[in-house]
Amino acid sequence: MKKLLIGMLSIVVLTTNLRADEGMWLPWLLKSQTTEAMKKKGLKLTPDQLYDLNKSSLKDAIVWFGGGCTGEIVSPNGLVLTNHHCGYDYISKLSSSADNILDNGFWAKNYQEERPVAGLSVTFVVRVDDITKEVLDAVKGLNEKDRAEKLQQLYKTITDRVTAGTHYEAQCREMYKGNAYYVFTFERFNDVRLVGTPPQNIGKFGGETDNWMWPRHTGDFSMFRVYMSKDGKPAKYSADNIPLKAKHHLPINLKGIKSGDYAMIMGFPGRTNRYEFSQGVKIATDLVDPTIVALREIRLKAWKEEMNKDTDIRLKLSGNYASISNYWKYFRGEAEQLKNNKVFELKQKEEKAFGAWATSKPEYKNLLSDVAKAFGEYQPISLQSIYLNEGILAPTIMKYVQYASMLEDAKKDGDATKIESLKTRILTATGSLPYDEPIVKADKKIFKEILLLYNKNIAADQKAPYFKEVILGYGKTPEEAIANYTDFVFENSVFANEGMAKAFISAPRSSILNNDIAFKHFDAFRKHYNATYKDKVADYYEKTGALGRLYIKGLMEMQPNKEFYADANSSLRLTYGNVQSYMKYPLYTTLDEVIAKNIKYKDNPEFAISPRLLELYNKKDYGRYADKNGKLPTCFLSNNDITGGNSGSPVIDGEGRIIGLAFDGNWEAMSGNIHFDPKNKRTINVDIRYVLWLIEKYGEAGNIINEMTIVQ
Ligand code: ARG
Repeated sequence: MKKLLIGMLSIVVLTTNLRADEGMWLPWLLKSQTTEAMKKKGLKLTPDQLYDLNKSSLKDAIVWFGGGCTGEIVSPNGLVLTNHHCGYDYISKLSSSADNILDNGFWAKNYQEERPVAGLSVTFVVRVDDITKEVLDAVKGLNEKDRAEKLQQLYKTITDRVTAGTHYEAQCREMYKGNAYYVFTFERFNDVRLVGTPPQNIGKFGGETDNWMWPRHTGDFSMFRVYMSKDGKPAKYSADNIPLKAKHHLPINLKGIKSGDYAMIMGFPGRTNRYEFSQGVKIATDLVDPTIVALREIRLKAWKEEMNKDTDIRLKLSGNYASISNYWKYFRGEAEQLKNNKVFELKQKEEKAFGAWATSKPEYKNLLSDVAKAFGEYQPISLQSIYLNEGILAPTIMKYVQYASMLEDAKKDGDATKIESLKTRILTATGSLPYDEPIVKADKKIFKEILLLYNKNIAADQKAPYFKEVILGYGKTPEEAIANYTDFVFENSVFANEGMAKAFISAPRSSILNNDIAFKHFDAFRKHYNATYKDKVADYYEKTGALGRLYIKGLMEMQPNKEFYADANSSLRLTYGNVQSYMKYPLYTTLDEVIAKNIKYKDNPEFAISPRLLELYNKKDYGRYADKNGKLPTCFLSNNDITGGNSGSPVIDGEGRIIGLAFDGNWEAMSGNIHFDPKNKRTINVDIRYVLWLIEKYGEAGNIINEMTIVQ
């Protein structure tokens, strides 16, 4: 009996262990089961210390950084720590060949030296409220179209209600594909300044070669500071603003990590699709992912050629290059690992079990056949939106045309103040669209190559009439026609020249726009998509949206004891687990390997290091940051469940102190957004000891270290 009991116990422990690391939990809703599992793994804090509405709690130190990343407050004076790749675009915009902080690094030695960052904001979660009942009551019985409309109205009513009389902002979010709803109240700060960054040969060491892979040796961090008005409110940049008085800041743990240590991550994961149907997996592997990869490759290659020729061009394009390249590699990995990890087969198995359960349930009995029908209709047209957004609209010239066309549409409405504010917004956005002559040259190549691929891969009966009738008329063969047509567009369009494009946006004229060849091109492809595919695609999203919602509801009914977590949707989440390696890989890396990689890949600039780093390495002056073998740790692994958007999140020990910053996922688990594989899915973190060593010894910015609360 006793033996049996022990046997049963170990099964229970085993399953919670396997399951515990999977899941992006809602921190305000930590259910008893999750809390118990967290304690078992080593958490010493109570749920209230993680999330509390009345007292300061850990969540008050976590910020949504720039809308796409996570950051954390690490000093009483509003100091923010995040990844280097999260600050990358802002840092590159502050850089030029004369003042090259992207390549050389930057360390403010006092408040005055900090650099204001245009367009960057940092957002705190003030509170989260459950609005499920209100929403579900209001949408009961509605079809998908009416439901979507109703939701928009309701969201407005609810966000107005929760922000009334405050300077707060709010957003409603659906969870479990619409089985639950929450409203998030935010406080957003717009005066954010750069405090410190290592040079990119540290912050991005290993570049695209090492991206999404382990072992890793990247000092992927940068630092900012939040400023507020003298009366303690968010304010736009002013020299009179003062550093934020933080409600909560995270202390730093320099004791170091070992396998099995508790590790949790709070942050803003962007998107997962863990309840995807098997047919969706197939479309991703066979169609969508490889197409995005092929289309992005065109941009990357053309940009790289020009970036290699000139430092200013390289600096101007580096932000766009990094972001296109990051997800170029991501989709390559996702397709490869969905196959390797047999995710299609896994989903089929889950669906089979569901189908067996559902036969006797009228509500669910037709679900899987409806799903098959919806995907069957969508599959043949699934590349249309990809070819439009990642292809036809990808050249920079098309982005300028799109902006011009937005203005044209606004002019039709005739609201002068709206037009002016749109103009201002567009002119700010074009700051991210450098279009110097060499970039135009690259753009022309991109434009042409994309049309060639379109010609090759889009079925004849799906091609736009404009392509067949106009573009192909420019020459005898498609290749010749596309080349001639491209020349014609770039010789004649107003938008093939930065000065003229911006002048147009400042003073748009319909007659010019309507006769512009680049606009005609844009307009023809847009019209073809809207007339032929838009409704079908919308129909697919409506159907699979409703079916996905029903599927999750059914799964919850089928497994009443399982704790379900909602897909990531850029809302605040918590994942907990342990410091842990996988396969035959090392748990952590050291500076020794940075030097070794630099030697091994001596011809690859992605592994270059500065003489200063080598000098410091030779001195081995690691002080309190060394591990027990006297080496300087750089990165380590944990088994947390994260995705894009979590970048910059703190990795927190059992007592609420930072041990690292999450910055990537691993290649073997690139299928992780669709299926979590507990065996091989890992989070790649930069060790906080490397971060502090770089600040103190490399940057000689003791002032920054002194602000932090450090536990040794
Ligand atoms: N893969 C990382 C992420 O998505 C970004 C790494 C940025 N580095 C780069 N080489 N592009 O969070």
